Amino acid sequence: MAGRKVITVFGATGAQGGGVAATFLGDLGLRSEWDVRAVTRDPSQDSAKQLEMKGAEVVKADLDDVESIVNAVKGSYAVYGTTNYWEKASVEVEVQQGRNLADAVKQAGVQHFVWSSLLNITELSKGVLPNVYHFDSKAKVESYVRELGIPATFFMPGFYMTGIPGDMLKAQGPDGPWVFALPLSADAQIPMYHPKDTGKYVKAILQNADKLLGKRFLGATAYMTPKEVVERFSKAFPAIGANASFFQVSEDMFRAAMKGKGMPDFIVTELFENVKLMDTFGYFGGESLEPTHELVNDSLTTWDEYVKEAEAFKGLL
Ligand SMILES: NC(=O)c1ccc[n+]([C@@H]2O[C@H](COP(=O)([O-])OP(=O)(O)OC[C@H]3O[C@@H](n4cnc5c(N)ncnc54)[C@H](OP(=O)(O)O)[C@@H]3O)[C@@H](O)[C@H]2O)c1
Repeated sequence: MAGRKVITVFGATGAQGGGVAATFLGDLGLRSEWDVRAVTRDPSQDSAKQLEMKGAEVVKADLDDVESIVNAVKGSYAVYGTTNYWEKASVEVEVQQGRNLADAVKQAGVQHFVWSSLLNITELSKGVLPNVYHFDSKAKVESYVRELGIPATFFMPGFYMTGIPGDMLKAQGPDGPWVFALPLSADAQIPMYHPKDTGKYVKAILQNADKLLGKRFLGATAYMTPKEVVERFSKAFPAIGANASFFQVSEDMFRAAMKGKGMPDFIVTELFENVKLMDTFGYFGGESLEPTHELVNDSLTTWDEYVKEAEAFKGLL
């Protein structure tokens, strides 16, 4: 239909891109204006079929294959671009995938590219935290997008609240107390973000293009301290919450625990510095979330809401 716009979503079968596709397919206002093109390497998988059933056009492309990306973005008004560092845990791969996408976006004349970026922590920390590779690599792609002069906004996802239950916050043994354990001080600032909200941020970005082209846009519901994370958890589940606490893990304990899970040394160091960042230079360099909250109209998922739906907390009283 004339006048309709296409948003092509990379990572549509995953957490962030899935959030974008869900919002653009589910929000009646957006649906009257936008068509969703969902990108996956495997259109036969269930998550891709679900997207098709909900009305998305599913296309096959691989960020390692330039020609497939060029075809995927053709005719798009907007593109949401995300890469999954953790699949290969390689800076070279992530930067190359981001550059491939930027080149295709430039070639297709896309009017608004939303790149899922992060800050360059080596620069922010002046070399004190030089190993947060998955942040630095996304920032390198951001620089490349700027160099190419692509009309873009840089979305900066916060700390996934979905990563906390069952892993960082869990019971110590079958009837043991609940402990939130990280190598952080109790008053560090965690930018709490739910990836299913990604579409709400992207909606605000596209609807405020005049204000946000060329800018960064932070993604988080609120900053919370580890102490507050536990307090809210205890309030939601008073029976077991009475004994819940935050425990500041030492660097040695953290390293031993990660190595115990079979992680190679460079990833252990990367994760340690990633967490330490929130205690030192700040995940977002200390920036306020207010400019984001002024422009996002849809309600963002709070930790209080999420604890009630998290699988690892099911059945708690
Ligand atoms: N955890 C956190 O707190 C946090 C915070 C900020 C940022 N991040 C970043 O979030 C990123 C992961 O995003 P996510 O959580 O949405 O991931 P996810 O749920 O694991 O999904 C990964 C998505 O990437 C797609 N993908 C992977 N490799 C691809 C390729 N070569 N070509 C095309 N598509 C590809 C997958 O699509 P198919 O498999 O269908 O092809 C899938 O849709 C990571 O880079 C991480 O650094 C995480």
